[in-house]
Amino acid sequence: GPHNKGSISAIASDFRAIRNTPQDNSPLQIFVKAKRKINDIFGEIEDYVKDAIDYMHVVEKELSILNAEEVKQMETFVNKVHGIRDVLARDHMKVAFFGRTSNGKSSVINAMLRDKVLPSGIGHTTNCFLQVEGSPADEPYLVLEGSDEHCAVESVGQLAHALCKEKLNESQLVRVFWPRNRCVLLRDDVVFVDSPGVDVSPNLDEWIDKHCLDADVFVLVANAESTLMVTEKNFFHKVSTKLSKPNIFILNNRWDASATEPEFLDQVRRQHLERGIDFLVKELKVCTPKEADERIFFISAKEALIARLAEKGFGSSNSLAEGFQNRYFEFEDFERKFEECISKSAVKTKFEQHSQRGKYISNELRNILDKLYHDAQLLKEEKLKQRKDLNDKINFTEQQLMLITQDMKQKIHDMVDDVGQ
Ligand code: GTP
Ligand code: MG
Repeated sequence: GPHNKGSISAIASDFRAIRNTPQDNSPLQIFVKAKRKINDIFGEIEDYVKDAIDYMHVVEKELSILNAEEVKQMETFVNKVHGIRDVLARDHMKVAFFGRTSNGKSSVINAMLRDKVLPSGIGHTTNCFLQVEGSPADEPYLVLEGSDEHCAVESVGQLAHALCKEKLNESQLVRVFWPRNRCVLLRDDVVFVDSPGVDVSPNLDEWIDKHCLDADVFVLVANAESTLMVTEKNFFHKVSTKLSKPNIFILNNRWDASATEPEFLDQVRRQHLERGIDFLVKELKVCTPKEADERIFFISAKEALIARLAEKGFGSSNSLAEGFQNRYFEFEDFERKFEECISKSAVKTKFEQHSQRGKYISNELRNILDKLYHDAQLLKEEKLKQRKDLNDKINFTEQQLMLITQDMKQKIHDMVDDVGQ
């Protein structure tokens, strides 16, 4: 507000106020609006195709210029457009979180969802892939891989229990359907994928093939108290051999721990930042130094979640360590950059294919109708020509008739004269 202009908390709260306004200027809207628009366009294409088919059926009945083949081809377009609209309805933005055990992957997701959705902490080690997605239902539920059954979950405790009870393989996927109206990110079609620690699994290739190939953004949750580990780096090396230039964010989590040693703060931060940039730019070669600078953040997921829960009236944020505001502000900065990145990337990778197919269908549609028009034109000319030929014949016959009649008249006349004489 105007009273404490300039302070970080004021900026942060202005930021929040902007984000929560109904017109919603979240960068995720780039994806949401593009999805709506492309869906409308395919709706129109579907109408055109249907109109064209009705028209062709009429033409087919009345004239002989259409072959059944062309009508059939036109009819396949309806199915194609339907198929594209089905895929489109399921298109979403997917973000996958990786990192070593206990670095705070589940905590980061919870902080972003503004709720304790996923089990985290001691005894709650994530032991399979967990995908959180928005659902229109009012109550959360989960669906195990290979099953259609909706298992109701009232609480995190229950979710953790349900996950422990099942003998799950670590690369198996459990889908958690969380009410859309409880979180803006889920409402706007962001899907979160939580994973077991990269240090516990030998099946990294299977993980990547199964869960990563359609991800729009990867978040490496690192521990700011140590440096990037070889296991973490190796995982992303593997990812970048299978995907061209994956979008990777690095979160140096547990940055609150640095509050106890303020004298090393800048030095440690600079070191982590340098190494992170080197990793993205020189090792993985996925971005430029300038871009990398916008991909690395120093945050505390635990604090961010505490603050957000306190905002909703659960617990208090009084005990948060020195420098919390800065870390919280950086967490929001990360979210903003993340939203921009994921919505742009998803629009490009997902909708580009749809628009190519849309163009192809409308071109084919046009070609068929052009040919039909051309054939109709030819038919018309032919009919006109036939009519002209017929007219000529009639004229000729009339003339002949006239001549014959005149001739006959003359002959009768002569005959009458002859008889008279
Ligand atoms: P696994 O699922 O076991 O691989 O761990 P994870 O990466 O999901 O970590 P999780 O979110 O379960 O967090 C592990 C522990 O670290 C929990 O007790 C969290 O409360 C704690 N933790 C997470 N983020 C932070 C943080 O920013 N600061 C501090 N101090 N603790 C954190
Ligand atoms: Mg976890």
